[in-house]
Amino acid sequence: MTSTTLSCPTCATPLTLSDKSLSCSNNHCFDQAKQGYFNLLLSNKKKSKQPGDNAEMVAARHVFLETGIYQPISDALNQVCREHLPTTKLATSQSANTILDIGCGEGYYTNRLWQALADQEQASEECTYQDYTGQKPANKNTLELIGLDISKDAIRFAAKRNKDITWIVASGAEIPVSPHSQQLITCLFTRLMPEGMAKALATSGKLVVVTTGKQHLLEMRNVLYNDVKEQFMNPEATLNSLFNKVTEQTVQYQHTLISQNQISSLLAMTPHQWRAPESGRLKLQSLNELAITIDVTITVFEPIPRTV
Ligand SMILES: C[S@@+](CC[C@H](N)C(=O)[O-])C[C@H]1O[C@@H](n2cnc3c(N)ncnc32)[C@H](O)[C@@H]1O
Repeated sequence: MTSTTLSCPTCATPLTLSDKSLSCSNNHCFDQAKQGYFNLLLSNKKKSKQPGDNAEMVAARHVFLETGIYQPISDALNQVCREHLPTTKLATSQSANTILDIGCGEGYYTNRLWQALADQEQASEECTYQDYTGQKPANKNTLELIGLDISKDAIRFAAKRNKDITWIVASGAEIPVSPHSQQLITCLFTRLMPEGMAKALATSGKLVVVTTGKQHLLEMRNVLYNDVKEQFMNPEATLNSLFNKVTEQTVQYQHTLISQNQISSLLAMTPHQWRAPESGRLKLQSLNELAITIDVTITVFEPIPRTV
């Protein structure tokens, strides 16, 4: 299903889908690619020919994420999202729960979030049907999930994962959705663009941000660099003019990578691939096993109320 909240990147009026094409009342038209996604990134808004992650990084991320090593992050994210979506809506309302994943990459987390919420929705519908109505509920579309990334290579990959998600190429700086239309925005390991997020998020909505902590991949960084710098991102510092922090939780665990393939795909999906010195990369290439610490923080924010 295609999200009903998309808006035209040229004139900002609502986009509607007809015959595999999105169009607005001013006749701006965006055809669906054969892989199923829409390219809503105008060429005059591109800062480079191929913005975002390139095909090699996307493929490496795909290989690594498919090992399931980061699944605890995805499970924790899904739980946080379930807690912060209006539950009555999941069970009873005809209107959709609107969710946007900014910088969705090749769609691993987006797709798992969709599965988790769709399962929950189905369970609540069955419960409502059995307990209260005695009638089978009408066919409801109560989940509209958009995966957005500036990289066409990433979205091409993501679009193969799930046809029920709306996959779009667009920038998180200028998000082509109706103002304040998203009940939940997620942003994992991606640069935060507070203005775009605040404009897209419903005034009662929540922003869920996943960032790396101080211990994250420390063992790999110890191999790559002689002098390891302390590295972590504090999302509050970037967001605090527009958002208040609501909750924060850490997901931290150890895992042993058991092949050079796992080690090299992990490296290739991180900025260390081009940042680390060659000597460090060669040292890493000689390993067939590496114990790593995974240390990420999931922070939930809400918009600061604005007086008009
Ligand atoms: C580190 S990856 C994370 C991908 C995904 N969230 C994950 O964790 O698997 C960062 C992603 O942000 C995308 N990105 C970078 N700048 C962006 C922008 N201005 N708008 C939207 N996406 C952007 C990149 O193309 C890349 O796919």
